[in-house]
Amino acid sequence: MKFFIDTANLSQIKEAQAMGILDGVTTNPSLMAKEGIKGEANILKHYVDICGLVTGDVSAEVLSTDFDGIVREGEALAKLHKQIVVKVPMIKEGVKAIKYFSNKGIKTNCTLVFSAGQALLAAKAGATYVSPFIGRLDDVSTDGFILIEDIRTIYDTYGYKTQILAASIRHPMHIVNCAKLGADVATCPLSAIMALLNHPLTDTGLAKFLEDAKK
Ligand code: E4P
Repeated sequence: MKFFIDTANLSQIKEAQAMGILDGVTTNPSLMAKEGIKGEANILKHYVDICGLVTGDVSAEVLSTDFDGIVREGEALAKLHKQIVVKVPMIKEGVKAIKYFSNKGIKTNCTLVFSAGQALLAAKAGATYVSPFIGRLDDVSTDGFILIEDIRTIYDTYGYKTQILAASIRHPMHIVNCAKLGADVATCPLSAIMALLNHPLTDTGLAKFLEDAKK
């Protein structure tokens, strides 16, 4: 399973990249705002800066909700850097735009996906990635893992090449369960990636080895 980091914070991206386990980055307008990145020119520059830190795909989200606007924004984003993936919301105009981008060879990430039916539409339109939001489903007492399982079954049954990018990951067990269920990618906050490292038996075992090595 590929690991993407879900942030627009450059130092967190550098930290994950330095571990050697990073395959890409996802951002969204809320994450950009959190870093205080404002204004079109600054936002575009920030995407280019992120591309300079990693070797994999970097999702950059459009703000338009009509077909022409999504296409205009998406084409401008795609021209910024070859690593840019145009992130498009799961709405009717978005599906049309994903099909358009797919015909032009522009990579897309269909975002805000909460049902298997939406994921089926994204794949039919030729999305490169589909982003089911696990944590936000948890927030409304719905099992996001069943969604990952259903999408995997549908995509495997029909041979869709769209990659399942598990998103809205909040903690390490989200990552582990998505891996067990066959998600192609998990996009995670740095905290969830780092939490995968932790086990008390590792800590006590290492302390004992280091102590014994002095004897
Ligand atoms: C996905 O690409 C989104 O940026 C993200 O995973 C949303 O996560 P959240 O529900 O924690 O905001």
